Amino acid sequence: MLRLARRRAAREHVTNVTFEQADAQIHPFPTAAFGVAVSRHGAMFFGDPVAAFTNLARALRPGGRIVLLTWQPFERNEWLRAFFTCLAAGREIPVPPSDAPSPFALSDPTRIRSLLHAAGFSGVRVEGLAEPMYFGPDPDDAFRFVSAQHAGLVRGLDPAAQGRALDDLRADLAEHHTERGVLYDSAAWLIQAHRD
Ligand SMILES: C[S@@+](CC[C@H](N)C(=O)[O-])C[C@H]1O[C@@H](n2cnc3c(N)ncnc32)[C@H](O)[C@@H]1O
Repeated sequence: MLRLARRRAAREHVTNVTFEQADAQIHPFPTAAFGVAVSRHGAMFFGDPVAAFTNLARALRPGGRIVLLTWQPFERNEWLRAFFTCLAAGREIPVPPSDAPSPFALSDPTRIRSLLHAAGFSGVRVEGLAEPMYFGPDPDDAFRFVSAQHAGLVRGLDPAAQGRALDDLRADLAEHHTERGVLYDSAAWLIQAHRD
């Protein structure tokens, strides 16, 4: 992925960019060097969010911004609710605790504010976004993507139940096929704050 990113940047003649694989919680970023830190659906997977946000704050110049996109709670995200309903095939799938790393670890605005304040950020703004989410141009393409991404959910089912679960998913994707592709509702938070 990094090689691909570097190739694309070179192709587009973008010269003020570098790509690195690193753990944001502990990476020794230069101190007070950056104007903005951006993450799309990444920060909710931090094992120690206060350590990570503190490390990112240290890398920002005073007044520098952090901008995050995170998911709102599971129930408000039609896409994942639908995929889980099809692929769980009637089983109870355990949901991770709200403070453990997961897609929903930053879904509670009170927790978001308290983590960012503890890491030295101020002026936290949390704005709700509800946008259609695109899974592919047609149900076949979307099925290949979604069934691969959530393959772990059907692994424990016997072959007949697995077939029914995947058929349900296929049917659900077909119901969401629009002239703009396969679309589901989604709900995210756009979070912005600045370093003290
Ligand atoms: C759901 S993916 C989102 C990827 C991409 N930002 C996007 O929007 O398509 C979550 C990403 O968070 C990254 N991530 C999780 N914990 C991290 C950490 N401690 N430091 C850096 N990246 C982390 C993962 O490597 C993964 O790429």
